[in-house]
Amino acid sequence: MAGISRRDLLCSGVALSASSLAARSAWGRTAALLAGYPQAASAEALAAVAPREQLLFDFGWKFQFGHGSDPGRDLGFGNGQGDFAKTGDFEFAKAKFDDSKWRALNLPHDWAVELPFVRDEVQQSHGYKPIGRRYPETSVGWYRREFEIPASDLGRRIAVEFDGAFRSVLIFVNGCFIGRNDNGYAPFRFDLTDFLSYGAKNYIVARVDASLGDGWFYEGAGIYRHVWLTKTDALHLGKWESTVRTAVSGNAATLTLGTVVVNEGKQAESARVNWRILDAAGKTVATAETAPRSIEVGGSATFTATVKLQNPALWSVEAPNLYSAIVTVEAGGKARDAERVSFGVRTAVFDADRGFFLNGKSIKIQGTCNHQDHAGLGAALPDRLQWYRLSVLREMGCNAVRTSHNMPTPEWVEACDRMGLMMMCETRQMSSNPEGLAQLETMIKRYRNSPSIVMWSVGNEEFTLQEPMAEQGAKIAASMVQRCHELDPTRVVSAAVNGSNEKGVSDAFDIIGFNYNLKFPDEYHKKNPKRALYGSETASAISTRGVYFTDPLRNTVSAYDNNQPGWGETAEEWWKFYGTREWEAGGFAWTGFDYRGEPTPYGWPSINSQFGIVDMCGFPKDTFFYYKAWWGAEPVLHLFPHWNFEGREGELIPVWVHSNLDEVELFVNGKSLGSQKVPHLGHVEWKVKYESGFIEARGSKGGKVVLTEKRETTGPAVAIRLTADRMEIDADGEDVAILKVEALDKEGRPVPTAGNLIGFKVSGAGALIGAGNGDPNCQESDKEPKRSLFNGLAQVIVQSTKRPGEIQIEAVKEGWSGPELTRAKLAITTKKVELRPAVELVHRV
Ligand code: GAL
Repeated sequence: MAGISRRDLLCSGVALSASSLAARSAWGRTAALLAGYPQAASAEALAAVAPREQLLFDFGWKFQFGHGSDPGRDLGFGNGQGDFAKTGDFEFAKAKFDDSKWRALNLPHDWAVELPFVRDEVQQSHGYKPIGRRYPETSVGWYRREFEIPASDLGRRIAVEFDGAFRSVLIFVNGCFIGRNDNGYAPFRFDLTDFLSYGAKNYIVARVDASLGDGWFYEGAGIYRHVWLTKTDALHLGKWESTVRTAVSGNAATLTLGTVVVNEGKQAESARVNWRILDAAGKTVATAETAPRSIEVGGSATFTATVKLQNPALWSVEAPNLYSAIVTVEAGGKARDAERVSFGVRTAVFDADRGFFLNGKSIKIQGTCNHQDHAGLGAALPDRLQWYRLSVLREMGCNAVRTSHNMPTPEWVEACDRMGLMMMCETRQMSSNPEGLAQLETMIKRYRNSPSIVMWSVGNEEFTLQEPMAEQGAKIAASMVQRCHELDPTRVVSAAVNGSNEKGVSDAFDIIGFNYNLKFPDEYHKKNPKRALYGSETASAISTRGVYFTDPLRNTVSAYDNNQPGWGETAEEWWKFYGTREWEAGGFAWTGFDYRGEPTPYGWPSINSQFGIVDMCGFPKDTFFYYKAWWGAEPVLHLFPHWNFEGREGELIPVWVHSNLDEVELFVNGKSLGSQKVPHLGHVEWKVKYESGFIEARGSKGGKVVLTEKRETTGPAVAIRLTADRMEIDADGEDVAILKVEALDKEGRPVPTAGNLIGFKVSGAGALIGAGNGDPNCQESDKEPKRSLFNGLAQVIVQSTKRPGEIQIEAVKEGWSGPELTRAKLAITTKKVELRPAVELVHRV
């Protein structure tokens, strides 16, 4: 390692390259694609219909670290004697408790991403963050908030609802212990009705303990998804009990509608339910009403109806048409509770001989697996990021996502529904124990109306259940599948299985998923011709964006599609397999985005994975264009590497083109190196003796050149450029603008090898909430207003406040020992919008 400084190793400014022209055009298109989508179509917010109130409970929290082993540093909690002895005794959840020194913050919040990295091999797969029982100072967090409940709420049912938090959560309200939740991904709720003070201030405290984990990847820490306060009448719809099941026949669809009404009031009620079905334009297209039924105090009743839709607009990948059902329960001549259920009309069929059919049309699943964290933000993503991430994947032709290995956030599912991405929705714990079944049940009830979900997954690579405990595995899987079918008879159930799928868990599944190992599916298909198959997890190909020479000293892997671990496949290998067998439904590549943790094939100082087809920021690696070529419909021509190889003159450099055209001709400084036919599902490549100048690819179809691409040797960086995905965002305290940062040479060309450290001044109506650069080895802070470019690129995310105005972002040269760079400025307008209903802040006098 002589001659390589630590800084070089961490955030290599001298490392190699980026196909930045291509990256730029992909970015431009992604931004354009995104512009058509709303910033935040929060599923939970949309669900509320008067008289129900669904209030966002994200703003105005206080936070402080507790302690995992010392009660003295954990608000005195956990002394071992009598903590839960008497209800109402928790002083930290009462008015007198002083939280004035606690940090003020808004949710969603992930404290793990704010922590420094630690060199501790045990933490490798979690991204080297000091989380776990060996880090008691940084593994427990306390959140506290005051809120007011008006006197007029007396008699309503009031619940606090968490979309997910990591991980073990204890909730206290007004000195009383309310309940606990012990997993990191499923939503949970507590009814607070009995514990509240009406017409007064109330105090809620959450102790969140990330000491125990759920997975082998970065999981974050804290309340990293939205929190809601829901207020309903005492006669109300059961939580996630409203279902809309669709059956298509000819030009019509039959909708089977169902719901449950619960009476938590003081008298029996005669209740009826009505449904109003709205099309995407909000026009009522069908209605239904039930006869009244009496529901006794403490009782509940199930209501059902059917309606017909003539010529329904089907939900598909190309046209994700959605409907909604407004479900209303009436009693005593009044609407007492209501909710909106979003759904789609479509058929999804897996066939053992012919693969997958959506609405009767054969379609291959062109999927990616994804974890949920993003550069700069960890696991706490503003809603807009879900849309951004999915639009990046969609841009490369991905039509399906697998939520490996846990239940996703509602906004991800909502975005899939609206963008037309199919989903394999996976639960975290594969078990038929009460916790495992509860997680599964929550997932299915919460998302069973979403048309994007085409299959449920009850687990991933459960080695022990697959093999040594195959007998128990078979029973556990069967119980889980049975529960899925009871709750949702419309979808198939599967799991991601590595190995032969010959015994154990696999017996129970409706369709068989293979993780890696391309020899198994053919064998299995021969022996089991009646079972439908797909690739539940494939590839795990590794690459570092913009790097073209693997360098173990720098922990980087070249971005040509020829690196994979022993168990994996290159993009070309797996897609040539799954994309060419009629009986294969398609599959899910590991992974769409890079994620924190699992830094295969290296360890420290690598802190994130290199499996992504795009990096942690969403900047495409070159393989993105392989998928785009063979998954998409448009002509693609992507030439790489860049052409900045100063010091390598005379060396042979592999030059690749990903394209779906017939033929590609390569030119080096204007001289042809010949033409090559593009093999189906393949690529073309040349070896070129490096000399500065330019390389150019000309792609032709039917004998005509239809696309050309050039890579030019640039000069050194002299200026910074900032580009935002949108120049106007909502002034709602939630919306974000996602900025791309580049360095340009004096001719205005992005410098694909630039590694300049850039500082950011953000002022006005917003703040910087995260920065990243996609470098798997970069240990710079995700939260500080500065970031090194990595192979020419960095990303900065700024969030609006609720005050309309302008966010000014200035990028300045910071600490880089090179020539001065011309600064860049950008102003994002934040426009006044109607804020979604939220729990008001209580201001102390
Ligand atoms: C799989 C596993 C994933 C990830 C991947 C890395 O076996 O399901 O979670 O670890 O390997 O290649």
